[in-house]
Amino acid sequence: MKSIVILISGRGSNMEAIVQAAIPGARIAAVISNRPNAGGLAFAAAQGIATAVVDHTAYADRAAFDAALAAVINRHAPDLVVLAGFMRVLTPDFVRQYEGRLINIHPSLLPSFTGLHTHQRALEAGVRVHGTTVHFVTAELDCGPIIIQAVVPVMAGDDEAALSARVLAQEHRIFPQAVRWIVEDRVSIDGSVARVAGVREPGVLISP
Ligand code: GAR
Repeated sequence: MKSIVILISGRGSNMEAIVQAAIPGARIAAVISNRPNAGGLAFAAAQGIATAVVDHTAYADRAAFDAALAAVINRHAPDLVVLAGFMRVLTPDFVRQYEGRLINIHPSLLPSFTGLHTHQRALEAGVRVHGTTVHFVTAELDCGPIIIQAVVPVMAGDDEAALSARVLAQEHRIFPQAVRWIVEDRVSIDGSVARVAGVREPGVLISP
Protein backbone atom coordinates (compact mmCIF):
# COMPACT_ATOMS: atom_id res chain seq x y z
CA MET A 1 0.00 0.00 0.00
CA LYS A 2 1.44 3.40 -1.01
CA SER A 3 0.93 6.30 1.34
CA ILE A 4 0.02 9.64 -0.26
CA VAL A 5 -0.04 13.11 1.28
CA ILE A 6 -1.93 15.81 -0.62
CA LEU A 7 -1.20 19.52 -0.17
CA ILE A 8 -3.88 22.09 -0.96
CA SER A 9 -4.44 25.83 -0.56
CA GLY A 10 -8.10 26.29 -1.46
CA ARG A 11 -11.12 24.61 -3.01
CA GLY A 12 -9.42 21.24 -3.33
CA SER A 13 -11.40 19.89 -6.27
CA ASN A 14 -8.33 18.11 -7.64
CA MET A 15 -7.67 16.51 -4.25
CA GLU A 16 -11.31 15.43 -4.25
CA ALA A 17 -10.93 13.84 -7.69
CA ILE A 18 -7.92 11.86 -6.48
CA VAL A 19 -9.70 10.71 -3.31
CA GLN A 20 -12.82 9.74 -5.26
CA ALA A 21 -10.76 7.76 -7.78
CA ALA A 22 -10.15 5.26 -4.93
CA ILE A 23 -6.92 4.08 -6.55
CA PRO A 24 -6.12 0.47 -5.68
CA GLY A 25 -2.90 0.20 -3.69
CA ALA A 26 -3.04 3.85 -2.60
CA ARG A 27 -4.02 5.29 0.76
CA ILE A 28 -4.53 9.04 1.21
CA ALA A 29 -2.75 9.45 4.54
CA ALA A 30 -3.34 13.19 5.00
CA VAL A 31 -4.49 16.41 3.39
CA ILE A 32 -2.49 19.44 4.50
CA SER A 33 -3.29 23.09 3.77
CA ASN A 34 -1.25 26.24 4.20
CA ARG A 35 -4.52 28.16 4.61
CA PRO A 36 -6.81 27.51 7.58
CA ASN A 37 -9.92 28.34 5.54
CA ALA A 38 -9.18 26.08 2.55
CA GLY A 39 -12.50 24.68 1.37
CA GLY A 40 -11.04 21.25 0.64
CA LEU A 41 -10.27 20.51 4.30
CA ALA A 42 -13.94 19.87 5.11
CA PHE A 43 -14.28 17.32 2.31
CA ALA A 44 -11.14 15.47 3.44
CA ALA A 45 -12.24 15.40 7.08
CA ALA A 46 -15.68 14.13 6.06
CA GLN A 47 -13.92 11.27 4.25
CA GLY A 48 -12.11 10.34 7.48
CA ILE A 49 -8.77 11.54 6.12
CA ALA A 50 -6.36 13.18 8.58
CA THR A 51 -6.13 16.92 7.97
CA ALA A 52 -3.63 19.52 9.13
CA VAL A 53 -2.96 23.21 8.63
CA VAL A 54 0.52 24.69 8.45
CA ASP A 55 -0.27 28.37 8.14
CA HIS A 56 2.50 30.07 6.17
CA THR A 57 1.67 33.44 7.72
CA ALA A 58 2.95 32.13 11.07
CA TYR A 59 6.52 31.66 9.77
CA ALA A 60 9.25 34.24 9.33
CA ASP A 61 10.44 32.99 5.95
CA ARG A 62 10.06 30.26 3.34
CA ALA A 63 12.74 28.06 4.90
CA ALA A 64 11.00 28.04 8.29
CA PHE A 65 7.60 27.34 6.71
CA ASP A 66 8.98 24.55 4.54
CA ALA A 67 10.70 22.92 7.52
CA ALA A 68 7.45 22.97 9.51
CA LEU A 69 5.52 21.64 6.52
CA ALA A 70 8.02 18.83 5.97
CA ALA A 71 7.79 17.83 9.64
CA VAL A 72 4.01 17.40 9.34
CA ILE A 73 4.29 15.58 5.99
CA ASN A 74 6.96 13.21 7.28
CA ARG A 75 4.76 11.98 10.14
CA HIS A 76 2.88 10.11 7.43
CA ALA A 77 6.02 8.67 5.76
CA PRO A 78 4.55 9.27 2.30
CA ASP A 79 5.64 7.45 -0.84
CA LEU A 80 4.17 10.32 -2.85
CA VAL A 81 3.46 13.99 -2.08
CA VAL A 82 0.87 15.59 -4.35
CA LEU A 83 0.52 19.36 -4.84
CA ALA A 84 -3.14 19.85 -5.72
CA GLY A 85 -3.64 23.59 -6.05
CA PHE A 86 -0.93 24.29 -3.48
CA MET A 87 -0.10 27.93 -4.08
CA ARG A 88 3.24 28.33 -2.33
CA VAL A 89 6.65 28.28 -3.97
CA LEU A 90 8.77 25.63 -2.25
CA THR A 91 12.45 26.00 -1.43
CA PRO A 92 15.05 23.89 -3.26
CA ASP A 93 15.86 22.15 0.06
CA PHE A 94 12.25 21.07 0.45
CA VAL A 95 12.03 19.89 -3.15
CA ARG A 96 15.28 17.92 -2.88
CA GLN A 97 13.95 16.07 0.14
CA TYR A 98 11.08 14.66 -1.94
CA GLU A 99 12.89 14.27 -5.25
CA GLY A 100 11.09 11.84 -7.54
CA ARG A 101 8.07 11.57 -5.23
CA LEU A 102 6.67 15.10 -5.44
CA ILE A 103 4.18 15.94 -8.21
CA ASN A 104 2.19 19.04 -9.14
CA ILE A 105 -0.67 19.99 -11.43
CA HIS A 106 -0.26 23.21 -13.35
CA PRO A 107 -3.08 24.79 -15.38
CA SER A 108 -1.28 25.20 -18.71
CA LEU A 109 0.51 23.18 -21.35
CA LEU A 110 3.99 23.48 -19.88
CA PRO A 111 6.50 24.80 -20.69
CA SER A 112 4.09 27.53 -21.83
CA PHE A 113 2.59 29.82 -19.22
CA THR A 114 4.46 29.01 -16.04
CA GLY A 115 3.39 31.02 -12.99
CA LEU A 116 -0.01 32.56 -12.27
CA HIS A 117 -3.10 33.64 -14.26
CA THR A 118 -2.46 31.03 -16.94
CA HIS A 119 -5.95 31.07 -18.47
CA GLN A 120 -6.06 34.84 -18.86
CA ARG A 121 -2.56 34.85 -20.32
CA ALA A 122 -3.48 32.08 -22.78
CA LEU A 123 -6.46 34.16 -23.96
CA GLU A 124 -4.29 37.26 -24.31
CA ALA A 125 -1.70 35.32 -26.28
CA GLY A 126 -4.38 34.08 -28.67
CA VAL A 127 -3.31 30.44 -28.45
CA ARG A 128 -5.75 28.03 -30.10
CA VAL A 129 -5.20 25.20 -27.66
CA HIS A 130 -4.59 25.27 -23.93
CA GLY A 131 -4.57 22.67 -21.20
CA THR A 132 -3.02 21.28 -18.08
CA THR A 133 0.08 19.37 -17.03
CA VAL A 134 0.97 16.95 -14.23
CA HIS A 135 4.70 16.92 -13.64
CA PHE A 136 7.39 16.02 -11.14
CA VAL A 137 8.50 19.02 -9.12
CA THR A 138 12.06 20.25 -9.44
CA ALA A 139 13.70 23.29 -7.86
CA GLU A 140 12.78 25.47 -10.85
CA LEU A 141 9.17 26.71 -10.76
CA ASP A 142 6.71 24.77 -12.96
CA CYS A 143 9.46 22.74 -14.57
CA GLY A 144 10.28 19.11 -14.10
CA PRO A 145 9.51 15.93 -16.01
CA ILE A 146 6.01 15.86 -17.52
CA ILE A 147 3.87 12.82 -16.66
CA ILE A 148 0.62 13.61 -18.50
CA GLN A 149 -1.00 16.54 -20.27
CA ALA A 150 -4.52 17.27 -21.49
CA VAL A 151 -5.20 19.63 -24.38
CA VAL A 152 -8.44 21.58 -24.73
CA PRO A 153 -9.56 23.90 -27.52
CA VAL A 154 -9.77 27.64 -26.97
CA MET A 155 -13.15 28.60 -28.36
CA ALA A 156 -14.33 31.87 -29.86
CA GLY A 157 -15.93 33.93 -27.13
CA ASP A 158 -14.14 32.16 -24.28
CA ASP A 159 -13.52 34.20 -21.17
CA GLU A 160 -11.31 33.19 -18.27
CA ALA A 161 -14.15 31.43 -16.46
CA ALA A 162 -15.17 29.35 -19.48
CA LEU A 163 -11.61 28.35 -20.35
CA SER A 164 -10.62 27.52 -16.78
CA ALA A 165 -13.74 25.36 -16.34
CA ARG A 166 -12.87 23.43 -19.51
CA VAL A 167 -9.32 22.89 -18.25
CA LEU A 168 -10.43 21.96 -14.72
CA ALA A 169 -12.66 19.16 -16.04
CA GLN A 170 -9.57 17.64 -17.67
CA GLU A 171 -7.45 18.16 -14.53
CA HIS A 172 -9.93 15.94 -12.71
CA ARG A 173 -9.25 13.20 -15.30
CA ILE A 174 -5.49 13.38 -15.68
CA PHE A 175 -4.41 13.94 -12.07
CA PRO A 176 -5.90 10.67 -10.74
CA GLN A 177 -4.48 8.95 -13.86
CA ALA A 178 -0.96 10.20 -13.09
CA VAL A 179 -1.25 9.09 -9.46
CA ARG A 180 -2.51 5.67 -10.59
CA TRP A 181 0.47 5.23 -12.91
CA ILE A 182 2.88 6.16 -10.13
CA VAL A 183 1.19 3.82 -7.64
CA GLU A 184 1.50 1.06 -10.26
CA ASP A 185 5.25 1.81 -10.46
CA ARG A 186 4.98 2.56 -14.17
CA VAL A 187 6.56 6.02 -14.13
CA SER A 188 10.32 6.52 -14.29
CA ILE A 189 12.45 9.60 -14.70
CA ASP A 190 15.01 9.64 -17.50
CA GLY A 191 16.93 12.91 -17.17
CA SER A 192 14.46 15.69 -17.83
CA VAL A 193 11.80 13.34 -19.22
CA ALA A 194 9.34 11.05 -17.43
CA ARG A 195 8.44 7.75 -19.09
CA VAL A 196 5.27 5.77 -18.49
CA ALA A 197 5.71 2.05 -19.07
CA GLY A 198 3.11 0.44 -21.29
CA VAL A 199 1.43 3.69 -22.35
CA ARG A 200 1.87 4.77 -25.97
CA GLU A 201 0.05 8.08 -25.67
CA PRO A 202 0.40 9.59 -22.19
CA GLY A 203 -1.63 12.62 -23.18
CA VAL A 204 -5.32 13.42 -23.56
CA LEU A 205 -6.67 15.27 -26.59
CA ILE A 206 -10.16 16.67 -26.26
CA SER A 207 -11.83 17.56 -29.52
CA PRO A 208 -14.32 20.44 -29.61
C1 GAR B 1 -6.09 24.02 -10.36
O1 GAR B 1 -6.58 24.49 -11.58
C2 GAR B 1 -4.58 23.84 -10.44
O2 GAR B 1 -4.12 23.50 -11.71
C3 GAR B 1 -4.09 25.21 -10.05
O3 GAR B 1 -4.96 25.64 -9.05
C4 GAR B 1 -6.25 25.05 -9.24
C5 GAR B 1 -6.66 24.43 -7.93
O4 GAR B 1 -7.99 24.01 -7.96
N1 GAR B 1 -2.73 25.15 -9.61
C6 GAR B 1 -1.85 26.12 -9.78
O5 GAR B 1 -2.13 27.18 -10.32
C7 GAR B 1 -0.46 25.84 -9.25
N2 GAR B 1 0.45 26.85 -9.66
P1 GAR B 1 -8.53 23.02 -6.85
O6 GAR B 1 -8.17 23.64 -5.50
O7 GAR B 1 -10.02 23.00 -7.05
O8 GAR B 1 -7.89 21.68 -7.05
